[in-house]
Parts: sequence; C-alpha cells; structure tokens
Amino acid sequence: MISFIGAGSMGSAIIRGAVNNGYDAKQITATTKSRESSVQLSTELGINSFSLETDPNANVKAVAGAKMVVLGVKPYQILDSIDEILDSLQSGTIVVSVAAGITIEAMQERLPGKPVFRVMPNTPSMIGIGVSGVAAGKHCDQQHIKQVVDLMESVGEVIQCEESQIDALSTISGSGPAYVFYFIEQFEKLAIEYGFSPQQAAVMVRQTFLGASELVVQAGSSPEELRKRVTSPNGTTEKAIEVFENSDVHKIFSEATQSALKRARQIAGLEG
Ligand SMILES: NC(=O)c1ccc[n+]([C@@H]2O[C@H](COP(=O)([O-])OP(=O)(O)OC[C@H]3O[C@@H](n4cnc5c(N)ncnc54)[C@H](OP(=O)(O)O)[C@@H]3O)[C@@H](O)[C@H]2O)c1
Repeated sequence: MISFIGAGSMGSAIIRGAVNNGYDAKQITATTKSRESSVQLSTELGINSFSLETDPNANVKAVAGAKMVVLGVKPYQILDSIDEILDSLQSGTIVVSVAAGITIEAMQERLPGKPVFRVMPNTPSMIGIGVSGVAAGKHCDQQHIKQVVDLMESVGEVIQCEESQIDALSTISGSGPAYVFYFIEQFEKLAIEYGFSPQQAAVMVRQTFLGASELVVQAGSSPEELRKRVTSPNGTTEKAIEVFENSDVHKIFSEATQSALKRARQIAGLEG
C-alpha cells in the first residue's frame, strides 16, 4: 500500500499517474485537510481517502500498513507530518518527500534507519509528462530506489541524482515550466503587436513551442543541429539569432538560474 500525506496539486498528480499506469487504486490511501478534497479524490480516482476535517487522526490511520509514504504537504509541514506519523510506520516503510527545500538529513534525523527519498517533480507531471529528480538517502537499497522510480515514472521521466544536485535540477526542470510560460507570454505579446488577434497569437506561439519540443524529442538530433537546419545563411532566422547571441543569452540564462539556485540555498538555510 502507498499512502499520500497531503494530496493537492502534486500529490494528486502522482496518484492520478499511478492509477492510470496500473497501480491498484484500492492500494492507495491519501489524506487532505478538507473533507471536500478528500471526497473529490475518492470519487475521481477510486482511492481510499481521509480528511483531517472529519478525522484529526487521519494521517496516523492512513500510514498503517503502508510500504511507502509520500509526503505531499507544504514544505513547512513536512517535519511536523513526520513527527505525527512516526510511531505508526513499519520498520521498512519508504518515506518520500516531494517538498522543496527540506533536506534528507533533516528527515533522516527523525526517521533513523528508514529509507528516505527527496523527489523534485515539476508541474507537467500533472499531465503525465513531468520530469522528477530522485535522490536517495543512505538507508535506501536498489529495491527501494526501483519502487520510487517506478512511481515517479508514472508521471513522466526520472533523473536519479545526488541530493546535492536537487537544487540545481530544480532551477532547470522545477522552475523550467515557468521560464517556458514566460517565453510564450513574450512571443504572444509580440504576435499581437504584429496585428494578430490574441487567439491567433496563442495558436501560433503555443503550437510552435509544442511542435518544436516534440520535434527535438522525436528527431534524434541535437537542438543545435535542428536550429542550424532552419537557419539559412544570411536568412531571416539568422538575423534574429544574431540578436540573441549579441545579447549573450547564455549569460542571461546562467544569471537567472544562479539566482534561483541562491534562493533555493537560502530557503534550505544553507546560505544567508
Ligand atoms: N505544485 C508543484 O508544482 C510542485 C512541484 C514540486 C514540488 N512540489 C511540492 O509539493 C508539495 C505540495 O505542493 P502542492 O502544490 O501540491 O500544494 P497543495 O496543492 O496546497 O497541496 C497540499 C495538500 O496537503 C493537504 N494538507 C494540508 N495540511 C495537511 C495536513 N496537516 N495533513 C495532511 N494533508 C494536509 C491539502 O489538503 P486540502 O486539499 O484540503 O487543502 C492538500 O491536499 C510542496 O511541498 C511543494 O514543495 C510542488
């Protein structure tokens, strides 16, 4: 049985992916704060769900017999949730946190000897095409890793990495969808400035991002090769790319991700 403590945007996305990928809904339990969210989860996905609103002991009850517990509450609630459920966990229960900024060490202190994972998914996980970083704690063996990787693969691709790389992964794939939304916003504004309707601008830009992303995945060529193929010497695309290059876009991207990384370290209390 897998138990989710907190099943909002991210927790429910993972549950939905798991159920769609053949996990038995009856073997999944989830808790939420409100009764309404809990009823919605059980109605939509057929899982067992409990709310704290109807039962203050919901979290404790939900983890009884679980072989894996996924903590899907907000980062500031993670350690309190561990304290709450600690005595009800079986000796070999895997504990997975999807929270930003909460270290394996902080969780491990409260869960001595237990297999603990830190996982960083991103929002496209909600539609089954996410990317998750998976970092294992010191008591995790290959069987534990396989179970967590299998679960996260139900909502997309998995990158196994060291915990020291999780913040860097987060600045690329965790925050990445927001960067892409930002670029889409900019291009849509430009299309409107060139006289297209907002609807036309949306189709033009979103389909371009979708098509180009799919092409780079399917083509088996590097993005650089694909870019060069559509960039004729002295053609229009080349003129646009020259402007990006002259503005040192790589440096701008580097500064942006460094800034995100610095903030991640501040949140984790590793930097002032
Ligand atoms: N959303 C993302 O894109 C994303 C990406 C990577 C990582 N994460 C991580 O995922 C975690 C959850 O984020 P989220 O965006 O999914 O938040 P969310 O939508 O607010 O979900 C939080 C869930 O926890 C429930 N909850 C609140 N207090 C609880 C308690 N004491 N015990 C049990 N359940 C409780 C909430 O119940 P109600 O539904 O009744 O409010 C809700 O189901 C965070 O730690 C975040 O860092 C999120």
